[in-house]
Amino acid sequence: MAKSGVAFSSFSMPNAVYRVSAVALIFWSIFHFFSSFISPSLITNEEAQAKARVELAHKIETAELGRDGFKTLSKDYFRDFYGAEECGLSSTDLYNPHINADGTLTRPYCANKQKLLDALSGGGRIGFNSPFHPLDCEYRWFDPEEICMILDRFDAVIFIGEQRMTSHVYAAFNSLLRKNLAWGGLKNWELNEQLRQRCRCESQYTNPQCGGGSVGVSDHYVVDSTEILDAKEEGLKLGAPYVCNRVFHGLVTINSEPVAAGTLEDIDDILVTYHKTAKPVPVILQQGLAHGFNWDKTTKVMDAILRQVEKREPNPNHRPFLWLGPTSAGHLKPPGVIIEQGNNALHHFTVELGKRAKDRGLDVLNLFNLTLQADSYDGTMYGQEVSLTTAMMIINWLSRVESL
Ligand SMILES: *[C@@H]1O[C@H](CO)[C@@H](O)[C@H](O)[C@H]1NC(C)=O
Repeated sequence: MAKSGVAFSSFSMPNAVYRVSAVALIFWSIFHFFSSFISPSLITNEEAQAKARVELAHKIETAELGRDGFKTLSKDYFRDFYGAEECGLSSTDLYNPHINADGTLTRPYCANKQKLLDALSGGGRIGFNSPFHPLDCEYRWFDPEEICMILDRFDAVIFIGEQRMTSHVYAAFNSLLRKNLAWGGLKNWELNEQLRQRCRCESQYTNPQCGGGSVGVSDHYVVDSTEILDAKEEGLKLGAPYVCNRVFHGLVTINSEPVAAGTLEDIDDILVTYHKTAKPVPVILQQGLAHGFNWDKTTKVMDAILRQVEKREPNPNHRPFLWLGPTSAGHLKPPGVIIEQGNNALHHFTVELGKRAKDRGLDVLNLFNLTLQADSYDGTMYGQEVSLTTAMMIINWLSRVESL
C-alpha cells in the first residue's frame, strides 16, 4: 500500500531561473511564429538561444547581492503575501540557493529524504542572520499552492510540541498557508483593536500578549485548522482563510512528564476523527525545554507519544514521525540557566536525543545549526524569520514522506 508510493514529484521542478527563461522562450516562439509569415526566418533558433543566454547573463550580473553575499535570483515567494512590505520581509532574505553564472543551481536539490534531513541539520549561515544554507544540497521553497498539494497526500498532520518551543513553528506554518506575514499565526477575530495594532509581524512571535513570548499566558495563536473553518462558518471577521483547508493540521502541546492522560486522549481523538483512509498521518514531535533538557524525562515523553499513536496506527509507514531538535542558545540566554540550557548542554541533548529518536525509527531534523548564527530575542526563542524557515524545512520533509 503506502510503501509503493512515490515522493512528491514537484520537488525536482525547475527553479525560478528556468521558469523565467522558459517564459521568455515561449514569448519568443510566438513572436517568431507570427513574424515568419512576414519575413521568413527572421532569426534562427541558435540566435534566439544565444540572445536568451546573454539576457540571463545580464540578469545575473545585475542581480542584487543577498545578505549572504550571493547573488539573489530566486523569486520572492512573499511578493503576494499580506504584510510582506510592512514586515520588511522577502523570501530571499531566508532562502537564497547558490547559482552558477549560467543560472543553474550550483548544488542539486537533495536526492532523498535522508540527504535532505542531513543537509538541513548540518548546514549554516555565512554571516549573522543571513540566509541559511543546507550542508551539501539544496532544499526547496514551496509556494502555498504547492504546500496544499503536499498536504493533500495525508489524512492529517499533527505537530506535538511545547507551548514555548513549538508554537512559533506552527504559527509560521499557518502564516505560509494564509499568505499572511502580518498576523497569519493569530486568531485575528479574537483580538481587540489595540492588540490588532500591536500584534503584527515580529510581535506575533515576541510579544507574550500576542503569540508565544516567554510567558505564554495569553496567547492568540491558531491551535488547529478547524478554528479557521469554524470562524468562517460562524461569520466571524476572518481576515485571511487558508489557501486550502482540506487536511486537518494542528498543534498539541505537552509541557510535563508524565504526559497528562487528557493530552494522550486528544492525540487519539485526532487519529480517530481524521485518519479515515490509508493515507499517512505525519507527526512532528519536539520536546525538551519543558523538561529542563533532561535526556531521560524527554525520552519518556517521546515513548509515551509513540505508544499512543502506535495503538491506533500500528504501521510505521502510515505514521511517519519527525523528531525536531531544539534551537541553540542565543547570547541573551539568562546566566542562571546556562548549565542546563547553554550551547554545550543543548548540543549534547541534540546529539543524544537524535540518536534515541533514530533508534526508535524516527526521522530527525536538528535546528541547532540553523539557529547558531541567528538572532534570538530572549536567548531561547526565535522570531518570524527562523520560524518561517523551520516551517518550510518541515514542509520539505513532508514532501519527501511516502504516501499513496
Ligand atoms: C552542525 O553542522 C555540523 C557541520 O556540518 C555537523 O557536523 C553537526 O553534526 C551539526 N550539528 C548538529 C547538532 O546537528
